[in-house]
Amino acid sequence: MKFFSHETLETKLPWLIIAIVVVISIGGLALNVPLFFQPSATEPVAGLKPYTALQLEGRDIYIREGCHGCHSQMIRPFRSEAARYGHYSVAGEFVYDHPFQFSSHRRGPDLARIGGKFSDEWHRVHMINPRSVVPESNMPNYPWLEKAPANEKIIARKMKALRFVGVPYTDADIESAPGELAGKTEMDALIAYMQVLGIHVKSVR
Ligand code: HEC
Repeated sequence: MKFFSHETLETKLPWLIIAIVVVISIGGLALNVPLFFQPSATEPVAGLKPYTALQLEGRDIYIREGCHGCHSQMIRPFRSEAARYGHYSVAGEFVYDHPFQFSSHRRGPDLARIGGKFSDEWHRVHMINPRSVVPESNMPNYPWLEKAPANEKIIARKMKALRFVGVPYTDADIESAPGELAGKTEMDALIAYMQVLGIHVKSVR
């Protein structure tokens, strides 16, 4: 079998490319396929609820403002991380997140368990000017969030799209969504989102 000798693979580029693709595909399948059947990766943790309309709007503002560029939402299973941020993140906390906000950047602290750590008022003051509460902070100011109204026009459509990919919103949730955002600012939405992050696992500890 001279044809499939190692030398053929090393000297004939197309064969090398085909062999690499085959090997990587097998590795990828072996790594990923079992996850689809592993309840710890696909089942929500106890008590996990889909985001309310206001929290969902807040999550979209978080994405729009690029908060994930400085903040991760993924506590790794190391003692030092757990001591600082709380219980390490588990897959079942993120089953309703499309897309999840793990991020790999930590210019600021991880926010996976920020829910309940500070009051709403602390977040409001911090978001308008972080240096008013943390003098050495290099986080940008987000004062406009306080003035911008939450967008109630497209929230129902966003929830329908999420339902399509498996988030269990009921018709009643979707119908009441615009009303839930009425009179709220983008700041209210972002704070509602902050306050729900990571509280499900914290409560069962
Ligand atoms: C340029 C990087 C940067 C960006 C962008 C950024 N932050 Fe921060 N953030 C930081 C830093 C640094 C800290 C730590 C100092 C402080 O508390 O202000 C911080 C702290 C925080 C804290 C307090 C965390 C704690 O446990 O003390 C919250 C909450 C927070 N940021 C939310 C946000 C949100 C929401 C956004 C988007 C609207 C955002 N950040 C955007 C850098 C950033």
